[in-house]
Amino acid sequence: MSLGQILVSYSLLVAASLSLLTYWITKKFVLKKMKRTIMKAEHNYQQQIATLQMQLSGKVNVLESMVEKLRLSNQELNRLNEIRAKFMSIVAHDLRQPLSSIQGFTSVLMMDNPQGGGNNDQTALNNILKATDNMNMLMADLMDISMIESGRFKMDAQPFNFNALLSDVITLQAVNAQKKGIFLQKCEYPAEVTVVADRFRISQVLNNLIGNAIKFSPQGGCIEARFYVLNGWLTFKVADNGPGLLHSEKEKIFQKFHQSNNDRNLKKQGWGLGLSIAQEIINAHGGQIGVESAGLGQGSLFWFTIPQQPSGYHPEAAPAQQEAAPAARA
Ligand SMILES: Nc1ncnc2c1ncn2[C@@H]1O[C@H](COP(=O)(O)OP(=O)(O)OP(=O)(O)O)[C@@H](O)[C@H]1O
Ligand SMILES: [Mg+2]
Repeated sequence: MSLGQILVSYSLLVAASLSLLTYWITKKFVLKKMKRTIMKAEHNYQQQIATLQMQLSGKVNVLESMVEKLRLSNQELNRLNEIRAKFMSIVAHDLRQPLSSIQGFTSVLMMDNPQGGGNNDQTALNNILKATDNMNMLMADLMDISMIESGRFKMDAQPFNFNALLSDVITLQAVNAQKKGIFLQKCEYPAEVTVVADRFRISQVLNNLIGNAIKFSPQGGCIEARFYVLNGWLTFKVADNGPGLLHSEKEKIFQKFHQSNNDRNLKKQGWGLGLSIAQEIINAHGGQIGVESAGLGQGSLFWFTIPQQPSGYHPEAAPAQQEAAPAARA
């Protein structure tokens, strides 16, 4: 063996012994220390997890008792709501009979005594009639609300001439407009448009929208009503130069009993039910209703859209008069 080979073998031996020594020292001191640190951290984490679990289960208990309280108050609210709906329906139903008796007897008294025992008697009888008219309208609105709430508000769709209906409503409302010196204008619109919808309910919507425009417009105001048909949809619009609406009020006025106008006298002339009923009617026809206004003092434009005929409507299922119409024209 040469000297070089002996030196290489010796160096290899020394290197191997040093590696073994390093491994032994690392294992003995460093790894042991690391293991201890890891175990300590693990222990800490386990303690933290246990504390969090305890806190969480406490919160779950609180949440569960809150859910139970909410369920009970919800149950109570439903019960009170049912009582309220029942009460409203009873009031609306049972007050109509005595009311129409008062109306009937007042009319008889007015007819029996056209000159009256004096002007005061006639004025008093007139006031009684006006008051009972107002109460009748409120009763009708309350009946509608109670039917809506109980799901008994059904639409009876039949074909009718929308133009003729609008003309009737405008003739009726023109009397009130005249009293306030309001110019109620019928804009150009198609001569004959047949719509398949609930005529009575749609007239209710028209009366409320045009009636509102007259009620809320100032003396000498100007109101325009128009409608058109496009792609099987009818759009009706009524614009006034009245008090207008704040942006924040545009949705609220469609809620029951909501009246945004601050004028106390105008508030007294209604109950804030007309628009909520109108919305139900238009929705039940598959349409939409809304209002546009640039703000207070800027007037309002109320509109609604309804399909010209309900989806799934078949003319052959309609009353015979519809079938007869084209033949009659020819
Ligand atoms: N053309 C309008 N201009 C300004 N505000 C309006 C107009 N129409 C409706 N409003 C506002 O919306 C509110 C709700 O209207 P809605 O027709 O529901 O009730 P009402 O007319 O006050 O009473 P009711 O219709 O029950 O007799 C009104 O009180 C009024 O504040
Ligand atoms: Mg109204």
